[in-house]
Amino acid sequence: MFEFAVFWDWMAFAVRWLHVITAIAWIGSSFYFIALDLGLNRNIPGPADGEEWQVHGGGFYHIQKYLVAPERMPDHLTWFKWESYATWLSGAGLLMIVYWVGGELYLIDAEKADLALWQGIAISAVSLTVGWLIYDFLCKSGLGERPTLLMVLLFVLLVAMGWGYNQIFTGRAMMLHLGAFTATIMTANVFFIIMPNQRIVVDDLKNGRTPDPKYGKIAKLRSTHNNYLTLPVVFLMLSNHYPLAFATEYNWIIAALVFLMGVTIRHYFNTHHARAGDPTWTWLVTALLFIAIMWLSTAPMYKPLEEAEAQPLTPYEQKFAAAEGFEEAHDVVLGRCSMCHAREPVWEGIQWAPKGVLLETEGDIARNAKQIYLQSGVSHAMPPANVTYMEPEDREAIIRWFRNVGS
Ligand code: HEC
Repeated sequence: MFEFAVFWDWMAFAVRWLHVITAIAWIGSSFYFIALDLGLNRNIPGPADGEEWQVHGGGFYHIQKYLVAPERMPDHLTWFKWESYATWLSGAGLLMIVYWVGGELYLIDAEKADLALWQGIAISAVSLTVGWLIYDFLCKSGLGERPTLLMVLLFVLLVAMGWGYNQIFTGRAMMLHLGAFTATIMTANVFFIIMPNQRIVVDDLKNGRTPDPKYGKIAKLRSTHNNYLTLPVVFLMLSNHYPLAFATEYNWIIAALVFLMGVTIRHYFNTHHARAGDPTWTWLVTALLFIAIMWLSTAPMYKPLEEAEAQPLTPYEQKFAAAEGFEEAHDVVLGRCSMCHAREPVWEGIQWAPKGVLLETEGDIARNAKQIYLQSGVSHAMPPANVTYMEPEDREAIIRWFRNVGS
């Protein structure tokens, strides 16, 4: 019917689809509540802390906020947590599909660290867990009383993680793991801190006890961190489609600047929604940071061709280089793909290898075997609009070569 490589690529798409949808739901509801909370009208009589009238989809909504809780707990209470959990779970699934199962290609960079795949996977998994433990420890130490210093330390921790990932993983994997690390902190904040504290408060109220206000305060601190981390996470998750962002040696500095942009952009909207003015200077700072990022991305991305050609092949790559039909497939790729997918592309209008996919040396071709097969053998996605006139025999040559090794 169809083979594993095709099935697996579709799995990756399905899980990515799910992940994007759950993330939209999570970020959407969290932005909604932040804006709602900041914009509440607080000059109202009665026990409520604030209220707001809203109109949406043909109906009017009258929302009231109770700081601790209303006098009587309602029978039905809607919680917001599965948006976050589902985003993390689907994201973890996608990370495993792309960077663990596809680790030979996307995770391990033999030039940076000589790791076996299982070692790379272990580092990937352990670092995400340990990162959360360090962050949680910092929050629970006395630093919780000094939120600004805590934020600075959190920034230092994130930059250090980015630098560390870049020492061992590919550029794409570094950006993505830093995003996953940050998103893990955010979901763990919901799961381990915000939700349990909320439950204690609800429980106290149901049993007629006065809840300790410290629970609300702790939750608020974590919630503020989540607020500032949201935008950078989305950037880091998308960055692996943009070689300019990840395929430079300064990618970890780019990531650091992105975290700062997350703060400046959120600061504008937080202030605006609180009707406390419009700090437009934040846009200027954001623009300057973005210009700095663009400039950093122009550092040479790839090793010169001669060096790349001399690079030894890993055993996995050797399988494809040694397979029957390699010569033929190699000729096809050189003839139909290399003009764009080169360290210095010669195709008019293409400045750098699209998506960071290099198809010049034997190693390049062996390393990208599955992608070549999927993009130009099974599907006709490449070359775009068949601009280099790939013949049906060319595609057959690629399919034959790939199938000689198997998926
Ligand atoms: C005219 C230039 C050009 C040629 C020739 C070309 N490509 Fe591409 N390739 C691109 C562009 C542009 C993209 C990025 C497409 C996008 O953004 O979705 C791309 C993306 C890719 C990707 C990454 C796909 C992804 O979504 O990750 C692969 C793999 C690829 N090409 C393989 C090939 C192969 C194999 C050939 C030859 C059979 C080829 N390309 C020929 C321009 C080209």
